[in-house]
Amino acid sequence: MPSYLVETPQRSYRVIVERGILERVAVQVPAGAGKVFVVTTADVWELYGSRFAGLPHEVLFYPGGEERKRLASVEALAEEMVERGGDRASLVVAFGGGIVNDVGGFLAAIFMRGVPVLQVPTTLLAQVDAAVGGKTGVNLVAGKNLAGSFHQPLGVLIDPDVLATLPEREYRAGLFEVIKCGVIRSPYLFALMTENREQVLARAPEVVEEMIAESVRIKAEVVSADERESDLRRILNFGHTLGHALEAETGYARFLHGEAVAFGMRAAVYLAEVTGRLSAEDSVDVLNTIDAYGPIPSLAGITAEALLARLRSDKKTVKGQVHFVLPEKIGHVTIARGIDELAVRSAVQDALA
Ligand SMILES: NC(=O)c1ccc[n+]([C@@H]2O[C@H](COP(=O)([O-])OP(=O)(O)OC[C@H]3O[C@@H](n4cnc5c(N)ncnc54)[C@H](O)[C@@H]3O)[C@@H](O)[C@H]2O)c1
Ligand SMILES: [Zn+2]
Repeated sequence: MPSYLVETPQRSYRVIVERGILERVAVQVPAGAGKVFVVTTADVWELYGSRFAGLPHEVLFYPGGEERKRLASVEALAEEMVERGGDRASLVVAFGGGIVNDVGGFLAAIFMRGVPVLQVPTTLLAQVDAAVGGKTGVNLVAGKNLAGSFHQPLGVLIDPDVLATLPEREYRAGLFEVIKCGVIRSPYLFALMTENREQVLARAPEVVEEMIAESVRIKAEVVSADERESDLRRILNFGHTLGHALEAETGYARFLHGEAVAFGMRAAVYLAEVTGRLSAEDSVDVLNTIDAYGPIPSLAGITAEALLARLRSDKKTVKGQVHFVLPEKIGHVTIARGIDELAVRSAVQDALA
């Protein structure tokens, strides 16, 4: 079974991709650990809670949803954890989609100044992205994920079997992050996505396992080389500069994160082509592969001007410099800053068309 090592200054740990591993979470709990607190949502717990039968635990329910991914929810979970006997020896298991991984991870980061967390992601997006890498946090009114902490987990346990119950739209949204991994670092993964569309969409177990494993391998490698956000880790943001702008512009209501990234990747591909970085042939290949897993919700009513204004006011912009991750060929990207706004506008217009 594939397992990948993430090595960071904070901690080294394994990401294990293994069907049925949900029933073996107890094996991953270190001897001598105190009470285990599983942070999850009611829907996921109803489906898979029984798999934790072999592990003595308390369940802490998080109501779910981006609007409740806030400091207040973390505080409520921490209070409940104390009431139910949590202490410095406790362990958190963050069991759910990316929101639960972020909230449960952040709870673990600050509870009694930090307790360990096992990440057990249950959406494709969380398996290939959110649960690996140690970023945890919550939203502020001013923007998404603006309060948080790096808290590397004890381990990440990925059971591809749980994807069977994931709603179709959530699954497809995760596929766009897989395509992202291929474009930034793996021609092999990109080809897997281009050549096996039917099996990918049918969630054929071997193909699903392979795409998760390869995406995790890439994320583990990138995070190990660069735990914090300097240039290597930034390559993971391919499609995210304009993706975030689109999500913000539509109030986080119209697009799922992965769908917004699909739009952002299309715009980045046009930008790479118009600035002479990417060949027309590779550009068509990437655009076709993204479209093959669409469609995404309608872009009606969204203007290039509005998205450019969002870029300028992005809270995460460093010293006023917008950066773009642009492909130079499939499997290789570069970080570009200070790109002429006319080129950006034209690329955004192409992506909106
Ligand atoms: N920390 C990071 O590095 C990082 C990276 C990417 C995204 N994120 C965060 O992840 C969040 C998005 O995560 P998401 O897309 O997983 O959404 P989500 O956590 O909201 O999950 C989507 C929905 O699917 C349900 N669900 C989860 N697993 C299921 C299963 N196996 N079967 C049926 N239903 C299931 C959830 O309860 C929820 O209703 C965002 O808040 C984003 O900021 C974090
Ligand atoms: Zn993303």
